[in-house]
Amino acid sequence: MKNERWIADALRQLSEQDLQRQLPPETPPVPRRTTVNFSSNDYLGLRRNPDVIRTAMAYLRRFGTSAGASRLLSGSLECHRELEELLAQFKGYPASLLFGSGYLANCGVVPALVGRGDVVVADRLVHASLVDSILLSGARLLRFRHNDPEHLDALLDKSVGRRKLVVTESVFSMDGDVAPLKEVVSVAVRHGAMVFVDEAHATGIFGREGSGLVCAESLCESVNISMGTLSKALASYGGFVCCSSAMKDFLINRARTFIYSTALPPPAAGAAIAALKWLKRHPDAGSLLLRRASLFRRRLASAGLNVGSGQSQIVPLIVGDNQNALVLAERLRREGLLVRAIRPPTVPPGTSRVRFSITLQMSPETLQECADIIIKAAQDIGLV
Ligand SMILES: Cc1ncc(COP(=O)(O)O)c(C=O)c1O
Repeated sequence: MKNERWIADALRQLSEQDLQRQLPPETPPVPRRTTVNFSSNDYLGLRRNPDVIRTAMAYLRRFGTSAGASRLLSGSLECHRELEELLAQFKGYPASLLFGSGYLANCGVVPALVGRGDVVVADRLVHASLVDSILLSGARLLRFRHNDPEHLDALLDKSVGRRKLVVTESVFSMDGDVAPLKEVVSVAVRHGAMVFVDEAHATGIFGREGSGLVCAESLCESVNISMGTLSKALASYGGFVCCSSAMKDFLINRARTFIYSTALPPPAAGAAIAALKWLKRHPDAGSLLLRRASLFRRRLASAGLNVGSGQSQIVPLIVGDNQNALVLAERLRREGLLVRAIRPPTVPPGTSRVRFSITLQMSPETLQECADIIIKAAQDIGLV
């Protein structure tokens, strides 16, 4: 169409900078034996767990395919209350509130807490959904250096605002490193700021029975919002926050992505409920996964590859240049490793990478074999 000509120019520009994204070929429903999927956030491998599938189907039959409306209309079902109670208990909070996705949780909660005249101080590497949520709120955004509580302190000292909110992730999605949560929270509390922690990648993996780092570090009393998603280790879809009961009541009245969006589909609630129960029966699953990821990371590092300073199940191989990341990812895909090049704006310019998500479905032997393939490919391309 004539009025869409500008789109071709925009796409050409992206392509010239090796930044154009394309949908990859469809992932087969049942993984091929010959491929290892390093691009999945199904960290505990529960997406095909028979119990999770059975429970999702039971909730589908009992409650139907859809909630049919938002929670404030007729969409509030028993399965939502059941899941919220389980999540609050799991995370050690008085209350929990479900959202349609993790993205919607972030974009609903931050603008409910702050607005014009307020200040948000966020870690420089927080997820796009958090950046969007802050921009949507109209509050002033200041960014502290990644995992640097001293810089956070200095910014909070200088900033003036009606309310202040500190935002971080506990495990960073693209670097796989862990925030110094105790220090960050203590600085925020000293300044009277509220604290929002996104635990999307810690939930199910870190802490007792996978309850996350806020709980493991005994910070529930000081972290106002502990956010999580059902879409990663919990093998479902949807987002949630854990908070005080008063905060929950407030969010029900003020979080627009909660108020004006259809409630979570019952099968998604059922799958997450089954995953939470599975975690109770497998309390060591997260630490087993972390041990395997640590061996994999050490193997790559010992060959001279830059894998950052992470301690989680997410292992980045930072190559810097966009083109190098694309070439390495393509070579690894040809060798049967399902990986993607991660480029700006998802990561800062000059830090393009191939990101490996380790899941429990990968045995130590598979990980060892894959590490050898990655090292050989990196050497052939001249990255080490
Ligand atoms: C740190 C972080 N927060 C939030 C989200 C959004 O979660 P969801 O996929 O449930 O929308 C993601 C997903 O990629 C994430 O990595």
